[in-house]
Amino acid sequence: MTRADLPIGVFDSGIGGLTVVRALRRILPEESIIYLGDTARVPYGSKSHETIQRYALQAGAILARYNPKLMVIACNTASAHGLAALQAVAPCPVIGVIEPGAEAAAAMAGPVGVIGTLATIQSGAYEDAIRRRRPGAVIHSLACPLLVPFAEEGWMDDPITDAVCRRYLNQIPFEVRTVVMACTHYPLLLPSLARTRPGTNWLDSGEYTARTVDQMLQGSLGYRTASARGSLRILLTDASSRLQEVGERFLCEPLESVDLVEL
Ligand code: DGL
Repeated sequence: MTRADLPIGVFDSGIGGLTVVRALRRILPEESIIYLGDTARVPYGSKSHETIQRYALQAGAILARYNPKLMVIACNTASAHGLAALQAVAPCPVIGVIEPGAEAAAAMAGPVGVIGTLATIQSGAYEDAIRRRRPGAVIHSLACPLLVPFAEEGWMDDPITDAVCRRYLNQIPFEVRTVVMACTHYPLLLPSLARTRPGTNWLDSGEYTARTVDQMLQGSLGYRTASARGSLRILLTDASSRLQEVGERFLCEPLESVDLVEL
């Protein structure tokens, strides 16, 4: 097997990263993917830097067993706190979702909003990455911790979700017309987010990450040589009864091959 035929390893704190897998499978349908969701320890968004970094390293070690050609940290929180540490030890290239999302945000004119978990926002990782590309950019960052449970509950088109989105987003000045959805779950809440702030450009970091993966494969990593649809294997650290339903909503396809692993 050539390196190009090896799978892409994707890691998330739970099942939210399946939104990134969905984008990868749409853009790169022939690629095989091994997804590791740390469902036993989710959420990461309320945890400390040290803990999240340790979890990311443990997840990377599990994925490395499957000899991936590339690892993608789909979780914004784990990208903010664990990317550099994992890149330093991983046997293959590792990317997170922050640089691709920041790249897209920096290319837009005007002030930028960033919404994410508490740990992502507190890390300042998006602000750093955007300002590296556009020094002096005006950035309004806001932690929106309640949005993750709303997305998992499936309340995508619900007045209560609209009210929560409004309560958060009213804290971002009206002139901000570009907002980065810096959390795996937020793209599911797009109907509510869009209703709350019409005319806003909502940037999905996961979507831009999938495009970055495409560029990396086009370069030295190489596309899988087979033309059949790539496989998707899902590894979880805990499988509760709701996982199937919630996971399929995030992935938009049936969850077929799910195995339990211990970190
Ligand atoms: N996957 C996380 C993120 O994108 C959200 C869920 C969590 O807090 O673990 O930041």
